[in-house]
Amino acid sequence: MKAELTFSDIDVTIRVPAGIRVIDVSEKVGAGIMYGCREGDCGTCLMHVLKGGENLSVPSILESKILQENMAGKNFRLACQAQILGDVTVEPA
Ligand code: FES
Repeated sequence: MKAELTFSDIDVTIRVPAGIRVIDVSEKVGAGIMYGCREGDCGTCLMHVLKGGENLSVPSILESKILQENMAGKNFRLACQAQILGDVTVEPA
């Protein structure tokens, strides 16, 4: 299954295999999402989900904890944790 991931900051849309994590695509295409640990621990990769939030994997307990610590709103996710399951549009937080 394929899904379309759009990075609104660089206006790029890519078809990706479902299940891939946002960070794995964003670093390849040069989108502006920053990252550090890639393990759901540092919170650097916080991103804003503009569309299709329901098409991302449900946050793990670890991700939920980091989101809470960063006082992230409900449309914010960690790019190193969120897996793409359908069409999604994101931008750096
Ligand atoms: S890169 Fe550290 S939480 Fe995502």
